[in-house]
Amino acid sequence: MTTAFIGQPVSRVDGRQKVTGQATYAAEFDQRGQAHGVIVRSTVANARIASIDSAAAERAPGVIAVLTHHNAPRLSYRPHKAVVDAAVGERLHVLQDDRVNHQGQPIALVIADTLEQATHAATLVRVTYAPETGSTDIAGVEPVPPTPRQGGRPEESRRGDPEAAFAAAEVKVDYTYVIPRENHNPIEMHATIAAWDGDRLTLWDKTQWVHNAADEIAAVFGIPPENIRVISPFVGGAFGSGLRTWPHVTLAALGARVAGRPVKLMLSRREMYYGVGYRPHTVQRVALGASRDGRLVAIVHDGHQETSTYEEFSEALVSPTGFLHSCPNVYTRRRIARMNVHTPTYMRAPGEVSGIFALESAMDELAVALKIDPVELRLHNEPEQDESKKLPFSSRSTRECYRVAAERFGWIRRSPEPRSMRDGRWLIGWGMATATYPMNYAPASATARLLPDGNAEVTSASSDMGPGTWTSMTQVAAETLGLPIERVKFILGDTRLPKAPVHGGSMTMASVGSAVQAACRKAREDALARGGANDLTDAMRRIGQPIEASADVKPGDASQRFSMHAFGAVFVEVAVDPDLGETRVRRIVGAYGAGRIVNPKTTRSQCIGGMIGGIGMALMEHSVVDGRNGRVPNANFAEYAVPVHADAPSVMDVIFVEEHDPHVNPLGVKGVGEIAMVGVAPAIANAIFHATGKRIRELPITPDKLL
Ligand code: MOS
Repeated sequence: MTTAFIGQPVSRVDGRQKVTGQATYAAEFDQRGQAHGVIVRSTVANARIASIDSAAAERAPGVIAVLTHHNAPRLSYRPHKAVVDAAVGERLHVLQDDRVNHQGQPIALVIADTLEQATHAATLVRVTYAPETGSTDIAGVEPVPPTPRQGGRPEESRRGDPEAAFAAAEVKVDYTYVIPRENHNPIEMHATIAAWDGDRLTLWDKTQWVHNAADEIAAVFGIPPENIRVISPFVGGAFGSGLRTWPHVTLAALGARVAGRPVKLMLSRREMYYGVGYRPHTVQRVALGASRDGRLVAIVHDGHQETSTYEEFSEALVSPTGFLHSCPNVYTRRRIARMNVHTPTYMRAPGEVSGIFALESAMDELAVALKIDPVELRLHNEPEQDESKKLPFSSRSTRECYRVAAERFGWIRRSPEPRSMRDGRWLIGWGMATATYPMNYAPASATARLLPDGNAEVTSASSDMGPGTWTSMTQVAAETLGLPIERVKFILGDTRLPKAPVHGGSMTMASVGSAVQAACRKAREDALARGGANDLTDAMRRIGQPIEASADVKPGDASQRFSMHAFGAVFVEVAVDPDLGETRVRRIVGAYGAGRIVNPKTTRSQCIGGMIGGIGMALMEHSVVDGRNGRVPNANFAEYAVPVHADAPSVMDVIFVEEHDPHVNPLGVKGVGEIAMVGVAPAIANAIFHATGKRIRELPITPDKLL
């Protein structure tokens, strides 16, 4: 009997439930007597509601209530700021006044017996607007610095004399890179079922953080968070869209309160483009100066992004630039463009993936200008420490990542000249980029309960949006307890369980995993001591009653002593059709130094997902925003293209470089959720340049840009 599970490619413990339809997602927790909610959304971006007439909707068959700002209950909207919320500003106060802040803002809620009745009645609500002037076009908005905050990311940073060093540099590149708005498109739409029992509320919600959903709705309704239970055992993809709690959750709870019945509210695919956040449109200038022998002497990275008028959301766009490559003179700045749009949010590797697209594209342009191999250029500029924080890295395996990925890829056979490699009529291009993402470790709690029959139940209120948290936590628990994996049940996704941090920022394995390990250690030691045995099963039989142990973990001072990040290298082969401009990604090889890998099977699966996300970002994804009114004309799966199986290369090699990092957290993991997407888009853009000689600095790289 083996109980060594950490590091083993264990298959998903919830796999059978998922493939047999037994895994229950938010919208599937149907309640007895449940009514249905449909949101009426504004058709303008910036206005006052002049009139709203819901009489016809109220008379429609099956309608229970129509809520507008005229008759909706007043909500408390107590201040509540979670780490995933916009740092500055006030969340949208839904149905509280006549103000329209963005296209698609909820302006009425129809509750009816059936979804069809609610959908029909929603079409009968008549609205007129008093328009106001504003902008939904980033090109017409002057970027401004974000409001400085205590403990926030600096909006500007400088070391050395970057302007002078750039001016004097022997070789330089200086370009602007643009990434359009992109939307999360998980298979599962956001959905909430709300049910009140007196002053207690239960929410079945698609969320990456059950406790935050409870805290948020408690603040909105002015009730104690303990009165709210949030249940979310399965999440069908989220990528950041489920970090915050969006207005539809409030509306479901409001509708249920007014109707006096449970209410189900599920967003349509179109509503996903208006009802939850998105990756903001970014515009970035990167200027690199180098000596002729390939040493960086200056980096200027200046980027801005869209945000709403009512909240300041800004991401870590330029953060990696200070430490990814060695350079004595660095200037970074990030700014925001306040527009009449809804607030953007985190989307898979938020900030890093966008900033690195610009930086690693520019590095490739510099390599071309220097006539140096792009891997060589990076090796020439490999830093000895984090030069922005002046701290050693807890571990950094970039050299090893370049080496093993290049070897697996066959990089040595690359002919450097653009357009010099072909396969029949296809132009072949090989490109690469560096990847990085911070190691995030946050306070987390877990409980382990050992039963006399030798089974164990381990709990933490985490989430599993797909990476395999159910499975990896079961592995950590089983190994720590010394029990066969079938005897251990891990449970997550319920506010009744011990608190976990947000299931995002690649921090779940580090944080929840360390808590699970600590709780299981404690429970095992207690049981062995009390049972007077060396074997846990024997001990539990002797004790004859359950043993429970809880543990809380939190980061120590390691972040003051070390700079802690995962690093990686991504190599890509593309084939470009010279007549049609179509790009096919043929191979991706990624090597990552991400600390300990708890489950190489689910982790590889995560990385493949990130790579495919990177293909979407590079070649397809673009939420087109109509600059006149903020509408997204392609808010659907027919016109917002995401990669399908046929777009994914058959070769996606994921290599984990062996890394033992004792500083990061007790489990020694760095997380991989986000880093696997970082570097993919620039590696593809760089490969396309190599194939075609065309440098595309505005994503996505669609055929029209290559013809
Ligand atoms: Mo990820 S953007 O933290 O879900």
